[in-house]
Amino acid sequence: MTVSIACVSGKGGVGKTTTVINLGAALAERDKRVLLVDCDPQSNLTSGVGLDPYDERPGVASVIGGHVDASAAITETNWPNLWVLPASPDLSAVEGELASSIDRELVLRDALRRDALRRDGARASFDYVLFDTPPSFGFQTISALAAAGEVLIPVQMSGFAIRGLKEVLRTVHLVRGRLNPDLAILGIVPTFVNLRTRFSRQLLDGLCELANIRVFATVITPTVKLQETSLAGIPITAYASSSKAAAAYRELAGEIIGDEVPADV
Ligand SMILES: Nc1ncnc2c1ncn2[C@@H]1O[C@H](COP(=O)(O)OP(=O)(O)OP(=O)(O)O)[C@@H](O)[C@H]1O
Ligand SMILES: [Mg+2]
Repeated sequence: MTVSIACVSGKGGVGKTTTVINLGAALAERDKRVLLVDCDPQSNLTSGVGLDPYDERPGVASVIGGHVDASAAITETNWPNLWVLPASPDLSAVEGELASSIDRELVLRDALRRDALRRDGARASFDYVLFDTPPSFGFQTISALAAAGEVLIPVQMSGFAIRGLKEVLRTVHLVRGRLNPDLAILGIVPTFVNLRTRFSRQLLDGLCELANIRVFATVITPTVKLQETSLAGIPITAYASSSKAAAAYRELAGEIIGDEVPADV
């Protein structure tokens, strides 16, 4: 069984891409076969695993556009067990290429399903598929939510965090109704947490108790090491294997592997 998780926040710069790359790398370290899918035309995930988004190579846009099969666009990374379906800036235009008669947001889901069926028997499918999304609820994010089984929500501990969270929950509700009835909330991972200020964490815990959403025990604290990894194009588990940030993403991977049955809203 493949566990597929869309990382969504609606808000920019909260650590979605950083979480997808480093959670993926930590899962791969635990011998899980992991595919990272870059659904963001900014292509930060793609560059974050060391690929140039401007290279001429098929990616998510080619798959959604029907030009190649997903298997032709899935690329190995430099790290064992870690694959990527890369993005390029032309992903922002792909929606306009699709015929208006088709259910556009289901095209990515169907392409990945076809790929998983094709692989079956030849080589095992992925254990985890992680989708990175842009900071909006447009076509790319909805395509990821239609293709995923679960939603992981990074919430930056700041004053606007709660508003962003409500928007994600509203979008998940809409996607359930229209495209993906089984979509579940995997949980919230608090990012940019200043452990000296417990107030925001308590606020979040209170809200999530109300909505019955799991908040992961792992918290991601601010560290320059994670900024360096995005620029270096290397996951933290390889870039600074014994850092606190690497330990945090390994801990999150452990929480996710240990409890693959998500708490529903
Ligand atoms: N825990 C952290 N400590 C310090 N810097 C971080 C941390 N997490 C992420 N960053 C940095 O903050 C910036 C934003 O992070 P990231 O790109 O992961 O956010 P995002 O939610 O994917 O943003 P966008 O919405 O633009 O896609 C990046 O430069 C990243 O390196
Ligand atoms: Mg991002």
